[in-house]
Amino acid sequence: MADSQQPTLNSLAAKITELSETFTKYLKENNIQQPTFAADSPTSYSNLSPEIFVTRQQLADALSDLWYLSQGPSESIYNYVHSCIPDAAALNILNHFDFWSAVPLEGSASYPEIAQRVSLPVDVARRVLQHAVTLRIFEETEPGKSSSNIRHNSRSAALARNAGLQALVSSVLDVASAPMMIMPETLNRYSRGKPALTQNMDETSFALMYSGGQLGKYRTSWDMLENEGEGENKGWRQRKFVAFMAYIKELFHLEGVLLDAYDWKSVGKATVVDVGGSAGHDSFVLARKFPDLTITVQDLPQVKPVFEANVPEDLKDRVSFVAHDFFQPQPVQADIYIIKLILHDWPDHEAVRMLRAMIPALKPGARIVLIEYIGNQRETEGPSLPRSIQNMGTATDLRIMALFNAEERPVEAWAKIFRDADERFELAHVNANPLTFISVVEFVWRG
Ligand SMILES: C[S@@+](CC[C@H](N)C(=O)[O-])C[C@H]1O[C@@H](n2cnc3c(N)ncnc32)[C@H](O)[C@@H]1O
Repeated sequence: MADSQQPTLNSLAAKITELSETFTKYLKENNIQQPTFAADSPTSYSNLSPEIFVTRQQLADALSDLWYLSQGPSESIYNYVHSCIPDAAALNILNHFDFWSAVPLEGSASYPEIAQRVSLPVDVARRVLQHAVTLRIFEETEPGKSSSNIRHNSRSAALARNAGLQALVSSVLDVASAPMMIMPETLNRYSRGKPALTQNMDETSFALMYSGGQLGKYRTSWDMLENEGEGENKGWRQRKFVAFMAYIKELFHLEGVLLDAYDWKSVGKATVVDVGGSAGHDSFVLARKFPDLTITVQDLPQVKPVFEANVPEDLKDRVSFVAHDFFQPQPVQADIYIIKLILHDWPDHEAVRMLRAMIPALKPGARIVLIEYIGNQRETEGPSLPRSIQNMGTATDLRIMALFNAEERPVEAWAKIFRDADERFELAHVNANPLTFISVVEFVWRG
């Protein structure tokens, strides 16, 4: 019997109209331009308030429900299975071969011209582009005609205009997708019948995929990022990853997260270490805002040239880079250590190992500011968040399962990891904000 509480095609359509009206009213009142599919469209919404961000994601939930219901249960699964991997593969190919710059932002290019620019057979370029066009990535100048050229639309132009967005596709889709597809095999081999996921980093999907050597021999994706490529090309993936990290901050307006994570002003002249700080994108912002801070950025060796190319002249005497493997004893005695988006990429015992490596440098009263994704959006207080927001967290959670046998953790789990590392790490402060997806947990060293 039909359940009157269940959404229907028409009730969803009405909800979509209502949410869409609320959203566009906000845009109008706040002078935020609406993107279109034209190549010169704005590439993202800027300055959405947290409340309207939730409204937009409720709209996304209603749209996906309408899609599921309009297809029906079986066909919605069939359609998804049929297309999801070709969709992802097409985007990955376009990005890898830089189709973005093979088509001018104004005007168009023929298939042979594009093929020549990306060094692929014309037939391959055409087939990939024809699938991409169905996803509203690029468009045909004369849809359906063999004489058609290809031109940019807003989605392809967003990629052409932004190296950070390209780096995101490369770092997330290219590095993680293939290992994720062998998760059933990995779980079968190493975790089936066990009470918990294996914590062995040699038993991740990533490690299994790259153990044979055909596609390179790497234990972790960090290993791949640092070492793939020959000569000058070595570390090309790490350079992309650095751009990806900086872009994430820009896309989600996360600049304030680190600035608000601690009362930086109150510490006056202080030394800070940004452990695994990438090429310094956070430290530059922090140092500029708080002129009394002196910051050491630590990361893997291939990150150093990117830091050196980007460190602003006026910050050179206060922000420096040291290549340091954070599993080795911490060489810098500082007042505050930032550990931002680092530990969630490691299983518990590796996170404990990394924290213990800091102990030789810690002086009594030293602070550790841990900044991490919120572990589980369902556990946060207040009304439950839209499914599409929860999905962002659960997607990351599965990706780090495939790459690292790690997981997104709630605050209590972080506290336990610090306790397991050493009882002298004392929990001092917690601030979790589900709308920024970020929790800040501060520890003080009572050694
Ligand atoms: C997810 S990123 C976070 C970067 C930065 N903290 C941020 O929030 O944007 C993780 C960083 O850890 C670095 N990393 C991975 N393994 C490392 C190791 N053994 N020693 C030092 N850094 C490492 C990576 O190069 C990368 O920059």
